Amino acid sequence: MLLFFLSKIKETMLLTQKQIELFEQDGYLILENFVSLEACETLRVRAAEIVEDFEPAESVSIFTTNEQTRHSDEYFMESGDKVRCFFEEESFGENGKLLQAKKLSINKIGHAMHDLDPVFEKFSRTPELAEIANDIGFEDPRILQSMFIFKQPKIGGEVNCHQDSTFLYTEPLSVKGFWFALEDSTQENGCLWAIPGGHKSPLKSRFFRSESGDGTEMEVFDDSAWETSKLVPLEAKAGTMVVLHGLLPHMSYANRSARTRHAYTMHLIEGTANYPQWNWLQRPPEMPLRGF
Ligand code: FE2
Repeated sequence: MLLFFLSKIKETMLLTQKQIELFEQDGYLILENFVSLEACETLRVRAAEIVEDFEPAESVSIFTTNEQTRHSDEYFMESGDKVRCFFEEESFGENGKLLQAKKLSINKIGHAMHDLDPVFEKFSRTPELAEIANDIGFEDPRILQSMFIFKQPKIGGEVNCHQDSTFLYTEPLSVKGFWFALEDSTQENGCLWAIPGGHKSPLKSRFFRSESGDGTEMEVFDDSAWETSKLVPLEAKAGTMVVLHGLLPHMSYANRSARTRHAYTMHLIEGTANYPQWNWLQRPPEMPLRGF
């Protein structure tokens, strides 16, 4: 009886065969109206509370001197099992003071809200998301990281073209991104761009912890330029989910508009894949990765 029940679950599919083929062809899949506007608003409100509670004293000076850049690395490198706020690089004036309100200065919150914050956990762990993971081929999906991305008005910085597997590496490669537009995301406020089919090319670089453990380095396998002429905008209304292959080249331009472009994103890896210790994001043994 139990086996019958389990086999029925396995057969349940949320994506159509056509959608799965599109994902395999393009390396991304856009699912409009996937989450409710209410759910989007709930996450935005919770993110605002986290920022409000954030005491920036320890990190407000991050971008003021080179000497302190190392501290920003530590602050970043130790965030795989925490909920931390990161400033936008253009937030600060020459005197090290914020140029605008704190709530308009944060670049992102990361990287373990899906495990540590009940509001984010509820959004992140749903039967629907488990089904999508199953439909795109995961056998034992684990949620590796989560980020709330603010893409602030005027100062929201460009994210260079990259493959997510560069930053979240497994053997074999397995990372996939679940990206949610919490507000309308347009070319004006810095939407995602991607190279359709670009995930069929190999991994171009690998970001890793240096052996000293307190910094990071990049190993480049292929230094050819991205074919940026092939980038297409992935504009998305609030409530849209975008599934991203880990090898898909994608980016976003700076947001110079007067509007925010809030998004939430999670990255999944295959539980059976090897996750090397040299990945920047590490979890302590007492906080293992979990699935849905
Ligand atoms: Fe990315």
